[in-house]
Amino acid sequence: MATDLLEMTEEQREIRNLARDFALKEIAPYIADWDAKAYFEPSIVKKMGDLGFLGMLLPEEYDGLGVDTSTYLIALEEIAVVDASAAVLMSVHNSLPTQMILQFGDEAQRERFLKPMARGEMLGAFALSEPEAGSDAAALTTQAVRDGAAWVLNGTKSWVTSGSHAGAILAMARTDSRDDRKGARGIGTFIVTPDLPGFHVGKKEDKLGLRSSPTVQLNFDNLRVPTDNLLGDPSMGFIYAMQSLENGRLGIAAQAIGIARAALEAATAYAGERIQFKTPIREFQAIQFKLADMATRIAASRSLLHSAARAKDRGENVTQASSMAKLFASETAMFATNQAVQIFGGYGYVKDYPVERLFRDAKVTEIYEGTSEIQRIVIARELYASD
Ligand code: CAA
Repeated sequence: MATDLLEMTEEQREIRNLARDFALKEIAPYIADWDAKAYFEPSIVKKMGDLGFLGMLLPEEYDGLGVDTSTYLIALEEIAVVDASAAVLMSVHNSLPTQMILQFGDEAQRERFLKPMARGEMLGAFALSEPEAGSDAAALTTQAVRDGAAWVLNGTKSWVTSGSHAGAILAMARTDSRDDRKGARGIGTFIVTPDLPGFHVGKKEDKLGLRSSPTVQLNFDNLRVPTDNLLGDPSMGFIYAMQSLENGRLGIAAQAIGIARAALEAATAYAGERIQFKTPIREFQAIQFKLADMATRIAASRSLLHSAARAKDRGENVTQASSMAKLFASETAMFATNQAVQIFGGYGYVKDYPVERLFRDAKVTEIYEGTSEIQRIVIARELYASD
């Protein structure tokens, strides 16, 4: 099979094998059914938690595995090869809410949330986008007003991965006053729990792909959030979100690589079996060129991703590197799944083979956690950041 250009330690191989065995046993047999019904199976959260996959980057004192970023991404890629829906749950949970609480929360918040989150007893979600604030995230309008020992939140959050099943949702809301708007510096991040009065799960999206990952709107209707649930500084929530999305984008890159790899593996196997003109089609250069381009782009994506991960663990700035990894890997996922459908021909266009689902699943990686256009803006800005 394809070279992955990644030297793994013994521990990384073990974790990769654990992820592969879990996904093949607990998810693979049900995927087609869950995808058709847009069904989310809640029990996978606890199963992933039991194996440590929901606290991969958390220190052991919070029941996490405390592995480095590369090891986490290896496990995530492996889950994504089997099921991109489970992978996005794992990516969002590990990269965004748990990291935000660890990095920007106080000790009481860490104690309260991180252990149950690491164990898979409490799923995390991230609520930044709104109906009118997508790429222009700082234009969000959900308002938070201080009232005694609570902040009262009103507004609607969109595209919240796992939002209907989450126990801790990191939600951004304006803390500046309507008469004195402070832009990106007038936003706080709140740990919203679904038991709070005024919390409502709204519309569940009927999506093209990732159909067994629930994506919902959340409505906050005079939602009273205790002041204890404010994360850090009430004017820094947007900055926390931006910093955290750098972790998130590494996770989405790993998910995209997993989808692309699944497409390559399926197409390589099929091209060996499919006989046309009395010849397995992989003997034809037209097919070989496609497989070669898929394999090359996957290997390049993985190299970009893991060099960014290593830089992150060395404490370097990875704003540009994480956007590059996400951009290249998501476009690779779209390229590879498109090529795989082409190699399968008519059989790629129907649900009898997995590439039809992979093609649908790949698309969102070019959209969420910052579109490809936003990644290019971030990359370009970094080129002249020091001017
Ligand atoms: N790290 C730290 N600070 C950062 C930062 C980063 N990576 N990026 C920006 N900031 C800071 C800036 O320094 C600036 O601070 P100052 O006030 O000190 O100047 C502040 O944030 C505002 O930054 P910009 O002026 O650059 O803000 P902008 O309005 O021009 O927007 C953007 C920048 C890059 C376009 C940003 O809005 C963006 O990333 N948009 C995409 C949003 C996104 O990715 N959404 C995904 C939602 S999650 C999801 O997809 C759902 C899911 O569950 C999977």
